[in-house]
Amino acid sequence: MIVLIGFMGAGKTTVGRLLAGQLGCDFVDSDEAIVAEHGLSIAELFATRGEASFRRLEAETIDRLLRGPQVVLALGGGAVQTPAVRAVLAGHRVVLLDVGFAEALARVGNDAGRPMLARRDLLEVYRARQEAYARCATAVVSSVGTPADVTADVLARLGHGRPGTVAARPVVVEE
Ligand code: S3P
Repeated sequence: MIVLIGFMGAGKTTVGRLLAGQLGCDFVDSDEAIVAEHGLSIAELFATRGEASFRRLEAETIDRLLRGPQVVLALGGGAVQTPAVRAVLAGHRVVLLDVGFAEALARVGNDAGRPMLARRDLLEVYRARQEAYARCATAVVSSVGTPADVTADVLARLGHGRPGTVAARPVVVEE
């Protein structure tokens, strides 16, 4: 199981699909699983049930997915703010795709499907999440670059190497 976390716009879904393709496993997005299970879009869930209710569904879904088959799993950007999610992530390989606030906003634009973008305190939300991201991540990869480059960086960080590069090894001097 490889879990991708990071703020909206970090490229978790795009990179996750590429990563799964390279590793020959399935890709699952926790938001897509929630939508499929409940028959409502994320925006509809926020609007009709509220964020707290969405966070409970999100935590349940992630817990279930983590117990399932080995996949590349991308989590919604706010998932790790829920303590129960942080708890079930323990022991998993969790890669933080790191993205700056301005870059994240530029990438997601005015997406009505992302209700958190309507928050006036979004910068504070972003700042508050950095600690949760850092606590959960077992590896951090910059999301700057093409999706293919970022995917290669993730694979390298996970020890899958990069075509054409040789992993650095300590130099052993033989006598
Ligand atoms: C959210 C991020 C979204 C989605 C929901 C809430 C957040 O996922 O889970 O809209 O709180 O940052 P992405 O990070 O995939 O956009």
